[in-house]
Amino acid sequence: MRMKYKALVEAAKKAKEFSFSPYSHFRVGAAVLTKDGKIFTGTNIENSSYSLTICAERTALFKAISEGERQFTAIALATDEIGFTSPCGSCRQVIIDLAGNIDVILTSSNGATKIMKSKTLIPLAFGDKNLKKTKKK
Ligand code: THU
Repeated sequence: MRMKYKALVEAAKKAKEFSFSPYSHFRVGAAVLTKDGKIFTGTNIENSSYSLTICAERTALFKAISEGERQFTAIALATDEIGFTSPCGSCRQVIIDLAGNIDVILTSSNGATKIMKSKTLIPLAFGDKNLKKTKKK
């Protein structure tokens, strides 16, 4: 694994420590890597009105975008599980939409990693290309 990806995985693991998950007790950390090498982290934040929960991946991406970042190369994901956890459907859509076909680094709590492309996780995704047709001239 690339040196930078090791740092990204470490950042995702650290972010997991801040998880606010009193309902599921399922801790998730995420870290996105910008094209120019910056790392932004996020964790899952649950809500007593369960559906308002936000996942770690979206927290990380939204944080980066709200700080002016627009170009990304990878996102790493960490949980306490031994099996690989992959992003939920909503996060897959947000990742492909806001970051494009980037590397998605899945991790195991035993140290193993698996790299996938976001397009593999969400083939035929809806995108801005679908909206252009309706754009007013
Ligand atoms: N969760 C994430 O943060 N990312 C995922 O990819 C899957 C699920 C969170 C949402 C919720 O707080 C908890 O994990 C259990 O679903």
